Amino acid sequence: MGINSWKEHLEKLPLGELYIYKELGSTNQVAEDLIIQGAPNFSLILADSQTAGKGRAGRSWITVPGKALAFSLILYPDPALIKAEQIEKLSGLGSLAVAEAIKKNYGLDPEIKWPNDVLLSGKKVCGVLVDLNWTAGDVKSIVIGIGLNTHEGSVPDHELNFPGASIEEFTKKPVIRLDLLVEILQSLLKWYPKIPTKDFMTAWEGYLAFKDEQVALVSGDQIIDQGCLKGLSADGSLVIKTDAGDLQQYRTGEIQLRLVDRS
Ligand code: BTN
Repeated sequence: MGINSWKEHLEKLPLGELYIYKELGSTNQVAEDLIIQGAPNFSLILADSQTAGKGRAGRSWITVPGKALAFSLILYPDPALIKAEQIEKLSGLGSLAVAEAIKKNYGLDPEIKWPNDVLLSGKKVCGVLVDLNWTAGDVKSIVIGIGLNTHEGSVPDHELNFPGASIEEFTKKPVIRLDLLVEILQSLLKWYPKIPTKDFMTAWEGYLAFKDEQVALVSGDQIIDQGCLKGLSADGSLVIKTDAGDLQQYRTGEIQLRLVDRS
């Protein structure tokens, strides 16, 4: 089923405008352009392939036609809901929605590599890229971009920053991209208003990868810190207990998380 025929199914969800493309540069970039043109809240930009897909930290993201999901959701947050201190949680929102959908649809056990990668058996199947626009200290608009490797052939064969895989490699059930997309969007819409709540943090933390394991926080080639991953703080920062015994909190930025092999 071509993605143009998905429109009638997606129209049943409480979304804004639907923008569905066979191919475009980047759904996050198109979302930014559409915000300027006044696209409504909860508008969805979906593409079967991207020619200039964006990853975190300036990396690129490959979307192979028919074998992946690539979409962006536009949100205009209520300033009372999303304050500056909540923004760490937006990557968590995207990855929580994906993890929950994968678990529900395929009975698999996804994990979230803080802040925004979804892993299956330690391999990355999904990345989330959040772009924000600010006015006078308030978040004016949010673009949550989600890229998922659903089928074999979706993972680039060149070196990635983390080992990658597709969902299909782990499930006996066929992966129906539309069903997965609908489930992710439903989960995302359910959790979005709950971002400030403890329930949201508990749900996100419940999927956290490497809990109580030794991790390194890396920026470029440099190890920033190392210690035992203890969980998330109330604002979505990562909490690690360093080898010296101190509890340290880290916000996202350019930091990458790596498991430390102590054998
Ligand atoms: C990462 O892990 O580096 C984040 C990858 C995010 C990729 C998605 S695909 C849909 C959306 N459009 C983009 O250009 N990027 C995000």
